[in-house]
Amino acid sequence: MRVDGPRAPWEGRRVVLGVTGGIAAYKVVQVARDLTRLGAAVDVVMTRAAREFVRPLSFEGVTGRAVYTDPFAADGAAVHIRLGREADVVCVAPATADVLARAADGRSDDLLATTLLATRAPVLLCPAMNDRMWAHPAVQDNARRCEALGYTLVGPDQGALAVGEADGPGRLVEPGEIVARVGRALGAAGPLAGRRVLVTAGPTREAVDPVRYLGNRSSGRMGYALAEAAWLAGADVTLVSGPSSLPAPVGVTTHRVETAREMLEAVREPVTRADVVIYAAAVADFRPSDPADAKMKRRELDGPPTVPLTANPDISVESRPLRKEGAVAVGFALETHDLLDHARAKLEEKGFDLLVANDAGDPEAGFEVETNRVTLLEPRAEPTALPVLTKERVADRIVGRAAELLRGREHT
Ligand code: CTP
Repeated sequence: MRVDGPRAPWEGRRVVLGVTGGIAAYKVVQVARDLTRLGAAVDVVMTRAAREFVRPLSFEGVTGRAVYTDPFAADGAAVHIRLGREADVVCVAPATADVLARAADGRSDDLLATTLLATRAPVLLCPAMNDRMWAHPAVQDNARRCEALGYTLVGPDQGALAVGEADGPGRLVEPGEIVARVGRALGAAGPLAGRRVLVTAGPTREAVDPVRYLGNRSSGRMGYALAEAAWLAGADVTLVSGPSSLPAPVGVTTHRVETAREMLEAVREPVTRADVVIYAAAVADFRPSDPADAKMKRRELDGPPTVPLTANPDISVESRPLRKEGAVAVGFALETHDLLDHARAKLEEKGFDLLVANDAGDPEAGFEVETNRVTLLEPRAEPTALPVLTKERVADRIVGRAAELLRGREHT
């Protein structure tokens, strides 16, 4: 997942990051930094072996907090109890074969092992070792025993290792994925925990012939940010995306489609289960009626071609009767003029509960820019104009409001 801008959804949350002695320990400095930038207070606990690979100072530099190494330090022998009790999540990365064995056995031979015993927070273990070591039955057995204790294993991935190419898994999962998994664990207490969210995103492409298409300039960024925000808030998220160069957000079930009709098909099933449906796609309203099977050749045309068009289905309208009772529907309106009048009309015509209105002429909003300036509309309420924010921040606000509307429905 991308970590940029002043987004700090995990303000006030505490993460214990256990670092053990593997070469991949250097990658975990990035994890500590990203978690800190996302607002979490990160307490790093390093084993003796970890300190052979990375110095505590690197972690102190990025977290702004003291690193814990010694169970017998002067600040109290009970530090493991305090760390374990205060943690909202404990993540061990990299987790060596040794720490897996000690965790599986419930040992208490260093500060990290005792912290694992003292905590009741979710524990993530991110193994990293040589692929032959990971494949050993003893390590596999320890990994299964860790799972039986309720710990979640994240990885390992397959890919290049410190020593040669691997035949099997052993590589630490990417730092971005670790951050996202920690986020998932933190999201377990989020406003959308246990909820399902469906997001449509990106443009659609409608074939003119096998090489040309009609489309639009949507990057998908707003929709992807919404999917990620909903996931951070604890939801199970399905993203149905038209062509976009963005990577699938970690943790989000992503279906890639090309045309409006494919998007509608991909939406049909998840929309019946979603508690919140967010229609953020910039769907092409029309498609060529009869796309050519072969490339249209300029020389064979008798002057400029005409391309007859047919209306595409409106995904928000077609899927409306399929939505679960009580689901919250969020739509978008991108307008070049009379923004609020057009937006209000779309809110009513399409039966949205929340409509996000954008002014297409605003240089700080719309397609291909990182920021957005939106106005939120709801039936029977005054519009709320938000300031210019990154699309991630806008997404947090929209998801937050959708969660409130959902809760409000259940209490009436
Ligand atoms: N929408 C959709 N399927 C379509 C067209 C629009 O699901 N075929 C959804 C969009 O995702 C958005 C909302 O409907 O949430 C409004 O989209 P917009 O393109 O602004 O409105 P249109 O209804 O297409 O109206 P117009 O293009 O005339 O402004």
